[in-house]
Amino acid sequence: MTLEQIYARIWDDLAAAVREEDQPFKVMQAATIGLDGFPNVRTVLLRGVSEQKNVLTFHTDLRSPKIAELSREPRIALVGVDPVQSRQIRVFGETRIVRDGQAQLDAWHASPDHDLIAYRTRLAPGTPMSHADDALGTAHDAHGVPGPDEGHKHFCVVEVRPARLDWLDLSADRPLRARYVRQGDGWIHSWIAP
Ligand SMILES: Cc1cc2nc3c(=O)[nH]c(=O)nc-3n(C[C@H](O)[C@H](O)[C@H](O)COP(=O)(O)O)c2cc1C
Repeated sequence: MTLEQIYARIWDDLAAAVREEDQPFKVMQAATIGLDGFPNVRTVLLRGVSEQKNVLTFHTDLRSPKIAELSREPRIALVGVDPVQSRQIRVFGETRIVRDGQAQLDAWHASPDHDLIAYRTRLAPGTPMSHADDALGTAHDAHGVPGPDEGHKHFCVVEVRPARLDWLDLSADRPLRARYVRQGDGWIHSWIAP
């Protein structure tokens, strides 16, 4: 593969992860710098990808520690792996937290109800509890069902604007690793040692 082909493949794989279920790069690990200076990392689901706009998105709870961390240090690193094909994509970029507005509302309405349950908890993610169910308990309607916008105020979209992409492919006899560094509206492509 050429550097150009790999670049296209990175964005194709990321876009496939947003479009289809069970794609390897749907599940990514997102690393931030903790408020105590310690590295922090957690799983997030890739929700949006645009090569043209140079943006990836994931959804999270505004009350979660990662939001406090990104508010202080907006740089983030993401990594995803395809263990079957032995490929890895790393993304290094700057985040923007979208707390309201049309894009946030559209993302909320486009999310399946099951994905919104986490935003309806009474307690912020990470709050210590005496019992496993203490976080539950939200406003419900007369039928015991949460209102459609229950939890919406906790929901946000995190946009990641990649400044660097790193691709590693260990599937063939000859391992391949490529790096793409954002410069202006384009990318500088280079091979690097695997
Ligand atoms: C399969 C899987 C997918 C997850 N997706 C998300 C996600 O898209 N957004 C999110 O905020 N947390 C997601 N989580 C939970 C996070 O990994 C994490 O536990 C939570 O967000 C609290 O992180 P924080 O304390 O670093 O803020 C997911 C967890 C798993 C196991």
